[in-house]
Amino acid sequence: MTPKKIILDENDMPKKWYNVAADLPSPIDPPIDPRTMEPVRLEALEQIFAKELIKQEVSCDRYITIPEDVRDVYRIWRPSPLIRAERLEQYLKTPAQIYYKWEGVSPAGSHKPNSAIPQAYFNMKEGTERIATETGAGQWGSAISFACKLYEIECKVYMVRASYDQKPYRKSLMHAWGATCVASPSMDTVSGRMMLEKDPNTGGSLGLAISEAVEDAATHDNTNYALGSVLNHVCLHQSIIGQEVIEQFNMIDIKPDVVIGCVGGGSNFAGIAFPFYHEKITGKNPDVEIIGAEPMACPTLTKGLYEYDYGDVAGLTPIMKMFTLGHDFMPPSIHAGGLRYHGDSPLLCKLVKEGCIKAQAYHQTECLAAALTFARTEGHVIAPESSHALKCAMDEAIRCRQTGEKKVIVFNNSGHGHFDLTAYDSYFDGSMVDYEYPAELIRQSLGKLPKVNR
Ligand SMILES: Cc1ncc(COP(=O)(O)O)c(C=O)c1O
Repeated sequence: MTPKKIILDENDMPKKWYNVAADLPSPIDPPIDPRTMEPVRLEALEQIFAKELIKQEVSCDRYITIPEDVRDVYRIWRPSPLIRAERLEQYLKTPAQIYYKWEGVSPAGSHKPNSAIPQAYFNMKEGTERIATETGAGQWGSAISFACKLYEIECKVYMVRASYDQKPYRKSLMHAWGATCVASPSMDTVSGRMMLEKDPNTGGSLGLAISEAVEDAATHDNTNYALGSVLNHVCLHQSIIGQEVIEQFNMIDIKPDVVIGCVGGGSNFAGIAFPFYHEKITGKNPDVEIIGAEPMACPTLTKGLYEYDYGDVAGLTPIMKMFTLGHDFMPPSIHAGGLRYHGDSPLLCKLVKEGCIKAQAYHQTECLAAALTFARTEGHVIAPESSHALKCAMDEAIRCRQTGEKKVIVFNNSGHGHFDLTAYDSYFDGSMVDYEYPAELIRQSLGKLPKVNR
């Protein structure tokens, strides 16, 4: 009998992060500085990022050592368990095996501290006094608040208005860790004030909250910016997830057939997927299928264009080559606030573009229904974001029921849903609605991509 919970010894926790930039099928297109329309100069990034993080951002070294200090904090909750969802398998009557990597065990309740801790650590090392950041669902905001508290850095979080209203206790959590949290758009920045003038009732978006946080960092000498997803160094830090999963499966002599994660900006997905991409190209698990699950209301990978675009609404960030729905696309206020982003990690987009990784989009009610089935079989009440990966895994398992295949499916269960109970309530009372693919809005937004001559 295979064990239910595969636990890696603390001493076997990875000592290095895996950097997929070393193994891409073709080089990544350089980020462009919106002021010069030339490739970004590293010195320009030093205004808002710690030097060590910039080094990681542009590194092509396959492995980068995790500082002992960071590993020591990781030890509070890592290695996280890999758990077999046998009751869910029985409920689905599938011959497939379903495993999930449980990232809900971290202090903030998701995978986000995997990057928040090193980001705060390297900033502390370089003397940063204050960090400005944005948060979608509130998970990143809480994670960086926690991390900043550990290293005594002041923290200001711009939280997307839609989530700020839906998840008031995420804000309390940030306060518990000593951070300041305001709804975005806010009156504290030029970008926020401009948006409020245009639409005082806007639910905001991750792209807009990024504009506010970047502006805050650029206009305060003692302040750096931190981003919880999208960037190469964030995907790098999250690679600890997939590396642990590979070790955990090695302990029970299994090579999974399907690896799944949900995609907002791409960080938790990159975390589980990139180490498996390495397994695939090195022939250790050549047939493994890797799938990203995203919301139908914000279908970046499945419906976006692979073009250069800004990372934020106001056009303050570097212009990156990625799948995009257009930087001023305001996604509908779905409950998976962390998946409402118009673009995705350029590393991930490159692998999707090259056909190494697939993507699939889902409606929020079918994902919440899957989450309820999970709660009622496996017990954990998971985040609406993670429910997209779960839904994808359940569909795969149902396909196996039809074909009789005994596939091993693993998904990244990126966080718990204890602060997302309004989503569950709106499912119970029937007020949760699905948003069809907003084709016209996206068409308009895609008409405003920056012109990059490359
Ligand atoms: C629990 C959870 N999962 C997934 C995501 C999506 O972000 P990313 O794509 O960077 O993993 C978020 C974002 O807030 C989240 O809170």
